[in-house]
Amino acid sequence: MSTAKLIFEGKEHEFPVFEGTEDEKAIDISSLRAKTGAITYDPGYGNTGSCKSTITFIDGEKGILRYRGYPIEELAVGSKFPEVAYLLIYDHLPNMNELLEWRKQLTRHSFMHESMMNFFDHYPPTAHPMAILSAMVASLYAFYPNSETDEELDTNIIRVLAQAKTIAAFSYKISRGEPIMYPQSNLSYAANFLRMMFGSPAEEYEVSDVLERALNQLLILHADHEQNCSTSTVRMVGSSQANLYASISAGISGLWGPLHGGANQEVIEMLEMIVADGGNYKKYIELAKKKDSGFRLMGFGHRVYKNFDPRARIIKKACDEVLAELGIKDPLLDIAKSIEEVALQDDFFISRKLYPNVDFYSGIIYKAMGIPTNMFTVMFAIGRLPGWIAQWLEMRRDPDNRIHRPRQVYMGEKVRKFTPVDKR
Ligand code: CMC
Repeated sequence: MSTAKLIFEGKEHEFPVFEGTEDEKAIDISSLRAKTGAITYDPGYGNTGSCKSTITFIDGEKGILRYRGYPIEELAVGSKFPEVAYLLIYDHLPNMNELLEWRKQLTRHSFMHESMMNFFDHYPPTAHPMAILSAMVASLYAFYPNSETDEELDTNIIRVLAQAKTIAAFSYKISRGEPIMYPQSNLSYAANFLRMMFGSPAEEYEVSDVLERALNQLLILHADHEQNCSTSTVRMVGSSQANLYASISAGISGLWGPLHGGANQEVIEMLEMIVADGGNYKKYIELAKKKDSGFRLMGFGHRVYKNFDPRARIIKKACDEVLAELGIKDPLLDIAKSIEEVALQDDFFISRKLYPNVDFYSGIIYKAMGIPTNMFTVMFAIGRLPGWIAQWLEMRRDPDNRIHRPRQVYMGEKVRKFTPVDKR
């Protein structure tokens, strides 16, 4: 095993170095504070490996993304979301029997506890569906407060995967004052979701092949992305031994922000704003280059991908196909493509390695499906569930796991004397 040497305050210290299966090198500094009294400073954790993981591999320079070793390009065209979820969570592709049983359980557990329906009566119709989703996922523990033996965990895992889509679809129906649609056992995960969203008791809902395929693909592309903000949140919360539902609910909140999963909503709102402003996208590209404008090109840039985001490539192609198959002409797509073309030739974006990310085109497909803009991040959350679950399980079963507790460098006041303002 090689080592790394650090000279600090005149003294030399050695730290072990280890390599991942894809030759990524890591310096194990877990003994740094004990040896030197100092800590590392790494805002945003850009250089910090928080865990060893066998789930997802990303090479940001080469634009590679693999789940359990399988390239995303192959999974996106050859598999369905439940199969990928199983792969991520149980570390192998299911055989036919396992897959059939898994699908059956995903439908069986998609019915919510009837008492949870009362929740919906008390949200205002304008409630953001991410607020509803995170609160209701945390509340699952109130209805199913079982312990977390391996067998019970399996049920909890299926429950959260199955019910998140029911919660999302019901909140949509209720916000529109329409009757809710219960899941149907003969339909796939994606088809059930579409029917629960867009079906009506008045007539049989025909699930469109195009939409079912596109939804499967979008969910697969979002299924995991190693130690991003929401996943790290799930691990952080779970490291205190908080239950699965509470940890996932925290992840949903982490995803909500516009710099993370909330970007897909922001992208569409940005494109709509540009169209409403006469379509002058170049003006907005210039604005994004001015630091003090506070404006960023949403759907551009990534902490890890510095060449291209492989998910964005797949989604861009899917976007063209879905719109063509549905016969939709969306001016937002034209604006998005023009922005991409111009930005990719602009030195500001080239020098900072800013490329379209997964969120740049996904919203255009969701929009074509009829999903309202404020639900885009919910779609991301449903897709990301298997990844959060797999990462939570891996963390809980890792013998090296300790409660997550970073340190800080205190820069505030030294001790000072307190004098009460109100001396009465
Ligand atoms: N528009 C304009 N400038 C940008 C953008 C952008 N979208 N993104 C980064 N920059 C600039 C930034 O100003 C900085 O410039 P300088 O070096 O001169 O100070 C440089 O590029 C590096 O940016 P950063 O903010 O330090 O990069 P980061 O790794 O901390 O942030 C990011 C990554 C994704 C948060 C950021 O690129 C961003 O805000 N993008 C827009 C939001 C977005 O699309 N988020 C979705 C990410 S993909 C889905 C997911 O997995 O979450």
